[in-house]
Amino acid sequence: DNSSTSIDTDVLIIGAGLAGLSTALCLPKSLNITILSKAALESCSSHYAQGGIAASLDENDTSAAHVADTLTAGAGLCTIDNTTQILSAGQQAVQWLCDQGVPFTKIPLSDTHQSLNAVNSSADLKTADLHLTQEGGHGCRRVAHADDATGRHIMQTLSARVQTSTNITILPYLEALSLLTEPNANTKTQITSDLKDKHCQGAIVFDHHNQRQLNFRSRAVILASGGLGQLFQRASAPNVCVGDGVMMAWQAGCRLANLEFVQFHPTGLALGDSSFLISEALRGEGGHLYCPKSGVRFMLDIDSRAELAPRDIVARAIAEQIHNNGLGYVHLDVSHLPAEFLREHFPQIYQTLLALGIDITIDPIPVAPTAHYSCGGVVTCTNGLTDVQGLYAAGEVAYTGLHGANRLASNSLLECVVIGRNIAAHLPTYLRSADWDSVELTNTKSIHLPSSSLMTEHNYNSNGKAQSTISTIEDINDITAKLKALMSQNMGITRSAELLVQALEQIQGWQESIRLSGLDDLTGLSNIDSVDNTTTPNHLIQFRLERQLQLATLIVQSAYQRYESRGGHYRKDYPDLANKPMISVIEPVTDKATH
Ligand code: SIN
Repeated sequence: DNSSTSIDTDVLIIGAGLAGLSTALCLPKSLNITILSKAALESCSSHYAQGGIAASLDENDTSAAHVADTLTAGAGLCTIDNTTQILSAGQQAVQWLCDQGVPFTKIPLSDTHQSLNAVNSSADLKTADLHLTQEGGHGCRRVAHADDATGRHIMQTLSARVQTSTNITILPYLEALSLLTEPNANTKTQITSDLKDKHCQGAIVFDHHNQRQLNFRSRAVILASGGLGQLFQRASAPNVCVGDGVMMAWQAGCRLANLEFVQFHPTGLALGDSSFLISEALRGEGGHLYCPKSGVRFMLDIDSRAELAPRDIVARAIAEQIHNNGLGYVHLDVSHLPAEFLREHFPQIYQTLLALGIDITIDPIPVAPTAHYSCGGVVTCTNGLTDVQGLYAAGEVAYTGLHGANRLASNSLLECVVIGRNIAAHLPTYLRSADWDSVELTNTKSIHLPSSSLMTEHNYNSNGKAQSTISTIEDINDITAKLKALMSQNMGITRSAELLVQALEQIQGWQESIRLSGLDDLTGLSNIDSVDNTTTPNHLIQFRLERQLQLATLIVQSAYQRYESRGGHYRKDYPDLANKPMISVIEPVTDKATH
C-alpha cells in the first residue's frame, strides 16, 4: 500500500502552463520547487494559444487605453483596480518573456506584410521591436506574437529554462486530486474571517507512471491548473481541462466567482471533432465572415466593428446564423488577402488546414463557436492569494476580476505572467512571516446551492475507494460524453431558465444513479481523457466524473441565478442588462473536515 508515500518540496505548483512556469522561474533559486502536470507537458491551453499576448507596447498606445478596452469588453464586471494593476504591468511582463528568449515576431525592417520572421535569438529583444497584431475589442494593434503559434514558442522557451533550473523539478503524468489543508495554529496571520482558518500544505496526487498515490507536502501551493472547457462538447482546450483546480480549491475552502462566464471563441475549426482554433488575428488582418447559404457578410448588419466586435457578439452572431440556416458552420474567408502574407504570417494555420485539404489562400474556412475560456474561477487578488492561507492561484483557474463578463482577446497570457511574477514576489514574505491578506470583493451576490449532500460528500478518499459507483466503466464514459453535449446545448451561447433547469435535473439524475448503483467492482478499460486511462484505477475514473458533475452543477446554478444578459452570458428570457453589475460568488464547502 503506497497511499502514504510522502514527498517534501518547498513549493508545489499544480499545472505546467504559462502561469505555473512563470511563477517557478521567478521564485528565488533557493527554494525547491516541484511542478506537476496532469498529462504530457504540452497538454495545457497555453501551449495552444495562437494570437498572442496583449500589452500596450506601441508608442501611440497607453495602458489606460488597454484598460478602457478591457472594461468595455468585460461589460461592467471587471474589477477596475485589479484590471489597472495587471495591465499596467504588461510591458514589463512581455519584456521578461523577451529576456527569457521567447522568439517574438519583430517589426519587419521593410514595410508592409512582407518578411515577418520570428527571430531566432532574442538576447537583446526589446518590446519596442515587436510586431503587433490586432484582435477583437482592441482599439489598436496591441498583441505581441510569435508567428501564429505564440503559446507554443513561449512554452518551449520557458520549458527549456525550467529543465535547466536545478531547483525546479517538473513531473508529467502526476494528477493532483485534492489539496491537503491543516487547521491554522499561526497567530501571526492577518486573516480575520472565520472562513480562513486553515492553510494549505500540499496535495494528494495520483502518479500515472507508477500507479500509486502520493502525498506532496509543501510550504505553499500554487494552483495553475487551467480551465474547464472540456466540460463542453466543442472546446479549444486540451482534454485534461475539466476544472479540477476549481473544485480542489472550493473543497479546500476557497470562494469561486462568476463561473457562468464561460467564453466561447467565435471561430473554432468546424471539421469533425477538431479542437483547432482559427485565431482572431485572421479577422484582425481583415478576414470576413459569410453565411455559406446566402453569401451575406452578416457581421456588417450587427455591429459597427463588424468582425472585430468583442467575441461574445461575434460568437452569438455566428451561432444565430448556424441555427437559423440549419448549418454546421459559417465561413471565414481570408482569400482576398495576399497569399504570401497569409503563408508567412499564419504558418501554423496555413499548414494545419492545408493538411486537411483547405488552402486558406483560396478556400473559405468552416468555423463555429467553441468553448474557450473560463472568465470566472477561484477568487484571488493580484498577488494570487486565495481564501486559504498558503494557497495561491494563477491563470485560467483563478478569478482576478480582469476578464469581467467577457475576456478581451490575448489578455489571458498576460495575466498568467503578471500574476505569476507577483506570486513569486509575495511568496518568500509569506514563508518568512505567514502574512496573508484576505481577498476583498465588492458588489457580490451569493449563489444559492441545494443543501443536498450531493454537493459535498465526494472528496477524494486517500485510501482509494470512491464512496459509490455505477455499474460499468461504459456507463461512466457514456455519462461523461452526455454531460458535454448537455453543457453545450443547455449551458452554451444562449441560455434560458428552461434549459438550465433541464440541465440541473439531468445532472442530478446522473448523480442519483451513481449514488444508488452501490456497486464498486468496475471492470474494463476507459478512455475519458488523454491521461492513460488503460492504467487508471476505476475509482479514480469515477471520482473524476463525480467531480465534473459537481462543477457542472455550480456553473449551471450560477447561470440560472444571473437574471440578465451581460457579456458572455446571454439569457433569452432576460435579454437586458441588470441595473447593477454583481459578481456571483459561490461560498466554499462548509464542511471543515481536513485531510
Ligand atoms: C486567438 O488567437 O484568437 C485566441 C486569442 C485569445 O483567446 O486570447
